[in-house]
Amino acid sequence: MHPISASPAGNESENRTSDRATRLPPGPRGSWRPTLQLIQNPRKALENWAKQYGDPFLLNALNGPIVVTGREDLLRIIHGQDPSIYAPFATSTIVPLMGSGSMLVLEGEPHRSERRLMMPMFHGDRMKAYGASMQQCAIEQFERHRIQGSINTLNLMTDISLEVIVRTIFGGSDSEIVRQLMDASRKVVASSSPLLFFSKRTHFSFLGLSPWDRWEKAKANLFSLLDKVIEQRYQSKSESDDILSMLCDATYEDGQSITREHIYSELMTFLFAGHETTALSLTWAIYHLHRNTDSLSRLKDELDLLADNNPSSLTSAPYLKATIQETLRIHPIVTETLRKLKSPLALGDYFLPAGMGIAPATVLAHHNPNIYNEPESFRPERFIERSYSPFEYMPFGGGHRRCIGAAFASYEMAIVLGTILKRYEIELIDKTPVVPKRRNVTIGPSSSVPIRVLSTR
Ligand code: HEM
Repeated sequence: MHPISASPAGNESENRTSDRATRLPPGPRGSWRPTLQLIQNPRKALENWAKQYGDPFLLNALNGPIVVTGREDLLRIIHGQDPSIYAPFATSTIVPLMGSGSMLVLEGEPHRSERRLMMPMFHGDRMKAYGASMQQCAIEQFERHRIQGSINTLNLMTDISLEVIVRTIFGGSDSEIVRQLMDASRKVVASSSPLLFFSKRTHFSFLGLSPWDRWEKAKANLFSLLDKVIEQRYQSKSESDDILSMLCDATYEDGQSITREHIYSELMTFLFAGHETTALSLTWAIYHLHRNTDSLSRLKDELDLLADNNPSSLTSAPYLKATIQETLRIHPIVTETLRKLKSPLALGDYFLPAGMGIAPATVLAHHNPNIYNEPESFRPERFIERSYSPFEYMPFGGGHRRCIGAAFASYEMAIVLGTILKRYEIELIDKTPVVPKRRNVTIGPSSSVPIRVLSTR
């Protein structure tokens, strides 16, 4: 059932004995300052704390205490546990934002059933059926953005990934509805101040101007549109096989159908989680490839040798796949994932009590020099030379909450990147280095990476 079947490291009962005394690692003092540091520059903050206090360390974040680690042996323990020892982290903060039906806050059997229901939509033949439309979307959006002379890569990639996810969820026949849903989703992401996700205390209204007010306004706009689209779908009794139709028709194993509120929050979760992440990663890929000419020529040689430009050829090109893996390694869009312990857990030298947050820090794992030679260098070939375990490489998280869109996002990235690079010669307009920066909830490039088209191949 789990996309990653992690074999428990050591004896599970050894790791969960209830008669041991709590023992927590050291970490920075206070809660406001470390939380703000984490919001401002998560990678720098996490690396500094790991250096200063060792790995793992304890962070008293505004949402509650969290033990953070990027160590392979400890990640093996964390992801090797039975999922029932974990609850989602900070549900009281996330539920008001995303709704109680969001996969992000479901747990136990409802979480399992929801994933079982959704999983097929983002894998195998269903996923492959979107290949041609992903490719068409990449070309059309590229040409549309190209009219403006220089291209803002981040805007281009946002439009592509937003259109792809909207068409996947809602079907693609009514382009006016697609456009409205894209606009509404863009506004939700733009209004998602990180503060809202880091502390429930920021959920207050103030003359319509607070981050909470902006979020609620954008969310209400999206929900009223979703309401219209869902109503139309019920009325027309269409036979489409998109995600919306599947949700409207679905029943759980006990025969119950999904409530409308639940559908809203799940659709919002997919729109929210399923486009900005991909857009930021694609932007990083364009940036790194055009600063590393050897990697770019190797990739172009590979693309030139492909028999055709079909999605199936692109998605089986090994260096293209390695390029995407390396992009997600060097810049994980989510720097740390979060869980809350429901039972105590022995983690290395420490013994963590129930109620403690636990965070696999992807960014620390991905920059560990003992695992990745020259971790700061962009070297796609490292993924051809060897493979990495799910405890060394985890851009999509791990265990029972691993990103449900991982295969879909990787597939989409290969098609979009391969199609653009096979068709166009481009160059970066601005040669100044781009660094990771918090955008809202995610971390992305500090610039939107402007490019110029040199020729069409
Ligand atoms: C490059 C693109 C993407 C990245 C880097 C990414 C990353 C992640 C990460 C790190 C998590 C948390 C996993 C954990 O807690 O262990 C996650 C969860 C999730 N992602 Fe993605 N994601 C991407 C694309 C997508 C797409 C395209 C979709 C939708 C189709 C999606 C839907 C979700 C959902 C629904 C969850 C919650 C899963 C759960 O709690 O069971 N993501 N993603």
